[in-house]
Amino acid sequence: MRARLEHLFASRFGNARDVRTYTAPGRVNLIGEHTDCHGGYVLPCPISFGIWGAARKRKDSLVRLYSENYPSRETVEFSLGNPVFQKEHGWGNYPKGVLRAFEDHGYSPSSGFEILFWGDLPAGAGLSSSAALEILTGLILKDLFEFSLETPEELSLAKLGQEAENRFMGVQSGIMDQCAIALGSPGHALFLNAGTLEYRSLPVPLKEHGLFLLDSRKSRELTASEYNTRREECSQALKELQEWGNWGALGELSPEEFAPLASRLPNSLLRRRARHVILENHRTQEAARSLEAGDLRSFGKLMNRSHLSLQFDYEVSCRELDCLAECCWQHEACLGARMTGAGFGGCVVALVENQGASAFEEAISREYYRHMELECGIYRISSIPGGARRLS
Ligand code: GLA
Repeated sequence: MRARLEHLFASRFGNARDVRTYTAPGRVNLIGEHTDCHGGYVLPCPISFGIWGAARKRKDSLVRLYSENYPSRETVEFSLGNPVFQKEHGWGNYPKGVLRAFEDHGYSPSSGFEILFWGDLPAGAGLSSSAALEILTGLILKDLFEFSLETPEELSLAKLGQEAENRFMGVQSGIMDQCAIALGSPGHALFLNAGTLEYRSLPVPLKEHGLFLLDSRKSRELTASEYNTRREECSQALKELQEWGNWGALGELSPEEFAPLASRLPNSLLRRRARHVILENHRTQEAARSLEAGDLRSFGKLMNRSHLSLQFDYEVSCRELDCLAECCWQHEACLGARMTGAGFGGCVVALVENQGASAFEEAISREYYRHMELECGIYRISSIPGGARRLS
């Protein structure tokens, strides 16, 4: 990979002298969906698809960014100092947003720099290419300019990435994706409390089982606007619930505390939104216990319940994702399956016994086509890689 990156870098920027190379993976969330924004638990892990970068400092104050993945093949160019969002810079606004977050926190690069990006994440599949781009850029800036971030540095990178997403890109996402990518460790999922930012890594026993990512290939246009709407609905639900208790976030309520109060929320939509967050948060903690006990059957059942809650209570699924999940549930080799990520398209993640994996793959692609007249993308994950790192 290093030689390839250096070659691509040289063809774009003249030569590859003093170039350093880096990578950041995509992520899949195993359970704990739409809980991070509400101070709840999540359980994501890195995947072996990701983004790579080759970078070096310049002598002047110019920043030049280039991606092999965008057909326009234009270099995004600007000068250091107060970078602003520019529509025509497209994908380049993500690294720009990270630079801006670094500068706002007093980490100002001493010179310009150039970065070449290349990635193999399936486009539009909801596997966090944006967070991967943010963390990769943050890692490059930290390494090239020797910034010492607050420790643990990986968590600081995640916070700066989220800031770029929230303030610069205008999507009010939580911190799950950035944490999974910055803090991930090989063979493990990250059990993170998005409210307190406490975390630990839990081994995912994938000896006799594998994870499948099933890409619905449904485009995710609605995601950003609906995401923000759900957040507002949940804030409203929390406000109403606060009449009966001093909770700072929905993630602080237990199902037992919520049960007697649910009927006091007059608006059934707000009730369902809150119910999803509170029960999903509880399921995620149960799922972590199942994982620690090596009980993948119970883990799988929790995944199924998570999907139903996202489908009916949080309403961020779609026909294609429901169809994929149902096809999975019907297969004997599948222990559990659910939509993963923000929703409205993207992927279903399934936990499958290795023994029946080939039959599973064949059945899902056949059945999905039969119902939806769409080919799904199928990716088998047999091991979990580590988080973002420098390669050379
Ligand atoms: C997106 C956001 C995350 C998280 C998920 C839903 O991926 O970036 O912060 O909220 O949606 O769980």
